[in-house]
Amino acid sequence: MSLKEKVAVITGAGSGIGKAIALKFAEQGAKVVIAEINEKNGADTEKEIKEKGFTAEFIKADVSSSDSVKSLIYQTVDTYGTVDILVNNAGLEYFTTIEETTEEQWDRTMNINLKGVFLGTKFVLPIMREKGKGNIINIASVTGLSAWPGLGIYSASKGGVVLLTKATAAENGKYGIRVNSICPGIIQTPLFEEQYIGATENPEAVQEELFKQSPLKTFGDPADIADAAVYLAGNQSRFVTGHSLVVDGGLTSFVGELI
Ligand SMILES: NC(=O)c1ccc[n+]([C@@H]2O[C@H](COP(=O)([O-])OP(=O)(O)OC[C@H]3O[C@@H](n4cnc5c(N)ncnc54)[C@H](O)[C@@H]3O)[C@@H](O)[C@H]2O)c1
Repeated sequence: MSLKEKVAVITGAGSGIGKAIALKFAEQGAKVVIAEINEKNGADTEKEIKEKGFTAEFIKADVSSSDSVKSLIYQTVDTYGTVDILVNNAGLEYFTTIEETTEEQWDRTMNINLKGVFLGTKFVLPIMREKGKGNIINIASVTGLSAWPGLGIYSASKGGVVLLTKATAAENGKYGIRVNSICPGIIQTPLFEEQYIGATENPEAVQEELFKQSPLKTFGDPADIADAAVYLAGNQSRFVTGHSLVVDGGLTSFVGELI
């Protein structure tokens, strides 16, 4: 139990990667706060974790709202006394070219994916600094390191997350606070399955094409990202900060088949 008695807030924990992280952290002994905008999914995740005999609390939160994030952190401190780990995971994406992206899509992407990370970090840092320790994990993306046509705005937001992670790590290492990001490749979550591959005319052909770009010829599972998060949250990674941990089946290491 590498996270025994740790208090962990995970945003967007009602689905996909965030939910897998919440489950795995709870299995590792953490008391988890499921910070989620979708009330049903948040409450269901809390129930699922409690039924396994672990500790969890759903708090409704919108990561793009300053008041909501502040209240999330205060409510967590009221309930559990502190925050040891914050996972800024909530995010969304629009599959659209840069010229077709609307200003509304740009604002929504930046407000949730990038400002959401900033707000969570801003309100949790004073608590962690006072304790002289803390751990922040930001869920970025491989598209924050290199670009995929049709995901330009999303890439820009995730590139921001990668650099915000490094800046936060640089400013807060002296207070005993570690800050890292995870850059997932293609992970089978509702976001990917319903909004991307499931929305294409021929999902099987798309899958085959995507496998050609990936050395391991498979998609990732949310639990793969949760395992990486457990590593970054625990003491095994005590000398790791400012890092972007790529978990992508080799996608970003591969320039394509030699023709
Ligand atoms: N699935 C992938 O292939 C993949 C790859 C790289 C990065 N990511 C990133 O991983 C993270 C999780 O993605 P996922 O695939 O699990 O998606 P998902 O859609 O399954 O889950 C995202 C969760 O975030 C919640 N959310 C959205 N807006 C919110 C807000 N304003 N406040 C609070 N919660 C909010 C949603 O309700 C949902 O429960 C995202 O940041 C995403 O960009 C996913």
